This record gives sequence, structure tokens and C-alpha cells, in this order.
Amino acid sequence: MFPTTGHALELACGAGAASVWLARRGMTVHGVDISGVAVDQARDLAARTGVGDNCRFDVVDLDDGLPAGPPADVILCNRFRDPRLDRAILDRLAPGGLFAITALSEVGAAPGRFRAEPGELTAAFAPLKVIAAGEGDGEAWLLARS
Ligand SMILES: C[S@@+](CC[C@H](N)C(=O)[O-])C[C@H]1O[C@@H](n2cnc3c(N)ncnc32)[C@H](O)[C@@H]1O
Repeated sequence: MFPTTGHALELACGAGAASVWLARRGMTVHGVDISGVAVDQARDLAARTGVGDNCRFDVVDLDDGLPAGPPADVILCNRFRDPRLDRAILDRLAPGGLFAITALSEVGAAPGRFRAEPGELTAAFAPLKVIAAGEGDGEAWLLARS
């Protein structure tokens, strides 16, 4: 499902494994994370795997919203959930763009501050066309297209 051309934005990219995977498949990638250590690791991974020129990693506090950038053909958000970003994510997706998110879920686990409520992801991103979605064992995920 993931394209091999175009621009990807990864939110809370951590040490950059997914961003680098997208870049190695041919995308240009902007990964952001609040952790300077993680961003350094992501830059290092991209350089070591030969995609440093196609990746940009920045320290960004997503509490302040999405960083400025072009429409994204892919937005990836793996194990990070902040409902305050939902509108901005929808607005940033290019027409036909792909959005993939995984998050902790209350389904199959005790309620918690960072856990998505049952049905939360599909409701939050209802304007998108769902390709796959699920929740269970404390995790929720959604793959959808604008
Ligand atoms: C569970 S880790 C997931 C990292 C990566 N997506 C992965 O799957 O390996 C959550 C990430 O969210 C980042 N994070 C937490 N709060 C953040 C914020 N306010 N702005 C940006 N990144 C944040 C952390 O630094 C951490 O790298």
C-alpha cells in the first residue's frame, strides 16, 4: 500500500526506523520527534543506510502542533497519539494520501491517559476511507486514504 515516490511525514519518529524504511523505498521523508537523542539516532541511521539526502529529521514538540511542510503523500504515526493533531493531520494529507497510525488502546487493556478509547481512531479520521483498522490486546491501528 505504501508508495515509493512522494513525500512522507512521520510524527514521533523515534530512532527513525520507519522513516528510513520509507526513504529506502524511494520517498523523501520528514521525521519529527521531541527527543534530540532519537533524532540524532534517526539521522545516523539514515546516513548509514544511504538515504541521508532523502531524509530530514527535526526536534519538534508536537504539543505545539505539526511543523510547517508541504502536503504529505504519507503520514505515519507509530505508537504515538495526540487527538489535538487530528485536524492538522487531515489537512496535511495530499489528495489520495495514506495515513497510518498505531496507538495504545483501552480495548484489551485498562483505561489509561494515552490509550485510545474504543472506536476512537476510526471516528477521529472518519473523513478518510478506511483500508484496514482494528483494536485489541491494548493496541489500535488504522490505515486509511484521503
Ligand atoms: C513509543 S515511542 C514511538 C517511537 C517510534 N514511532 C517507533 O515506533 O519506534 C513514542 C515517541 O513519541 C515521542 N514523543 C513523545 N511526546 C512527543 C511530543 N510532544 N512531540 C514529539 N514527539 C513526542 C517520544 O520521544 C518517542 O520517540
